[in-house]
Amino acid sequence: MSNSSLFIWGAATASYQIEGAVTEAGRTQSIWDTFSHTPGKIERAETGDIACDHYHRYKEDVQLLRNLGANGYRFSISWSRVIPSGRGKLSQQGFDFYERLIDELLQNEIQPFVTLFHWDLPQPLQDIGGFTNRDIAGWFTDYAVITANKLADRVRYWIMLNEPSVFAWAGHAEGFHAPGVKDLKAFWATTHHLNLAQGAAIRALRNVDSHLLLGTTLNLQRSLPADDSEESAEMSARHDDFWNGSFLGPLLSGSYPERIEQEIAPFLKPEDLDLTKQAIDFLGINHYQRSYIEADSSRILGLRNVSPPKNVRRTSFDWEINPNEFRDTLLWVHSNYQCPPIYITENGAYFEDQVEDDGQIHDKARIDFLDSYVHAMLEARSKGVDIRGYFVWSLIDNFEWAAGYRPRFGIVRVDFDSLKRTPKDSYHWYREFIEKNRHLS
Ligand code: FCB
Repeated sequence: MSNSSLFIWGAATASYQIEGAVTEAGRTQSIWDTFSHTPGKIERAETGDIACDHYHRYKEDVQLLRNLGANGYRFSISWSRVIPSGRGKLSQQGFDFYERLIDELLQNEIQPFVTLFHWDLPQPLQDIGGFTNRDIAGWFTDYAVITANKLADRVRYWIMLNEPSVFAWAGHAEGFHAPGVKDLKAFWATTHHLNLAQGAAIRALRNVDSHLLLGTTLNLQRSLPADDSEESAEMSARHDDFWNGSFLGPLLSGSYPERIEQEIAPFLKPEDLDLTKQAIDFLGINHYQRSYIEADSSRILGLRNVSPPKNVRRTSFDWEINPNEFRDTLLWVHSNYQCPPIYITENGAYFEDQVEDDGQIHDKARIDFLDSYVHAMLEARSKGVDIRGYFVWSLIDNFEWAAGYRPRFGIVRVDFDSLKRTPKDSYHWYREFIEKNRHLS
């Protein structure tokens, strides 16, 4: 394994967004296959059936990482590929793919950071309640242990969940992500069961191999009221609670934010918070923007996210560009929680790229974005936040969930007809940046 005391400069992806090959080698359906094949759910009815065809082109993608000079790569495992029915029998063919990928990474001196759950729950588990069913804690733990038994000899860094807040909120309250549920009870149950599943899996993985480095990835996004009303101020605080506090709290302090204890109570059993609170080796933080919140009683949670104010700089996704907020969020989590070392497991931006006559993509806006965010991170680091790595989202353009292939987040362009990869200017910028900062430790 490569020298792990060096700062990790890497890039991130997720299984459903890049792999394709959705029926290959025994893989069965995940909730994202079901959802993307449901009319009206995804822009232009796009699906991840082929995506970037990474399943077949992983070697080329690892070469992109190598030429970038990356020493880390964060990707996720498709649960449906390795345990097709979600529980029980594993698929060796499914694991073979990840073994090939990991071996290729290691041969190129790239440290794998494996995410176990980046939202693509096996459909058979959704059919019996998915994350609204408390038994998910056991199903997820079994999957984690089986996977670690297969891969722990080669993988040190394990991320339990990706952005549980988004999975709970977009998937179970607003319903614009899989599994497409819009139900308050399901939302709070899912919130708690994500914490429970994560805690149970961490506890079990400690016994698989004590050398594993275990963590999870939260999307930290602080809230701001969008207007001067008392209602919006209250709802903004509530948003902070269910978005940040309801995942930071149970994991790092063993408690839920006071204002949402009542909603969680029906699902909470006496010993639960002992299980959700685990000593983790690192915290993964994804950061894109902060939330502007307006009270709206017609919405399921009594609030809605609105666009940033007019004078604010934004990406093509209408997401605020504010590197100081990134720095301050890192300082905030550092001073408010007992935080383990931090990895920035995602940060990046969608800008409408143009392919020029020379075939190149001069994505200056993305370069400016990444440059300012990386420097904001380094500033937080110089102020005492223990940050050990940074992964740009994303290595390649990919399937951006409900928005399909329109939003391009990659530092490498993917032509979704030919599947050809073309490094953008931001890729070349990042390569030079890594070269200069390779020895940061
Ligand atoms: C994050 C997701 C990731 C990607 C980026 C843009 O919320 O974790 O899969 O969609 O947003």
